[in-house]
Amino acid sequence: MQLKVNGSAHALDVDIRTSLLDALRDHLGLTGSKKGCDHGQCGACTVLVNGRRINSCLTLAVMHEDDEIVTIEGLGQPGNLHPMQQSFLEHDGFQCGYCTPGQITSAVGMLEEHRAGWPSHASQALDGAQELTDAEISERMSGNICRCSCYPNIVDAIRDAAGKVRP
Ligand code: FES
Ligand code: FES
Repeated sequence: MQLKVNGSAHALDVDIRTSLLDALRDHLGLTGSKKGCDHGQCGACTVLVNGRRINSCLTLAVMHEDDEIVTIEGLGQPGNLHPMQQSFLEHDGFQCGYCTPGQITSAVGMLEEHRAGWPSHASQALDGAQELTDAEISERMSGNICRCSCYPNIVDAIRDAAGKVRP
């Protein structure tokens, strides 16, 4: 099979039961995406698939032959950081860093959902533009757990980056 990751096509020979996360980490060496729980509870494995954030531990690699996959390695690199990566640095939005690739990738996907007008549980209305309040950010990022509890700084980083992230 073939996977297109961060703009490059990769030929893979994987068991059909291989999760996308394991394909990325163990077969392609893209270890930025982390395995926290391996069952959809922590968000450490979040990647973008066709621009939408998903838990890569909960989906099979063979389901994504025709998809565009972006991992933390594809968002930006040292010297050319994505605005969300830069903002996490500036706001100290991490401690151990284990959850950080998932937090950043999820935040990028979350801003797209917000721009598209998708409501969250914290939204005051079900349609129309929603102000990106701290409550909105927290609710929309609630699938990403940080055991170091860096949540205040993570919210600061996302709020600051929201106006800078390219649509
Ligand atoms: S490793 Fe995928 S949600 Fe925790
Ligand atoms: S920075 Fe340690 S788990 Fe989030």
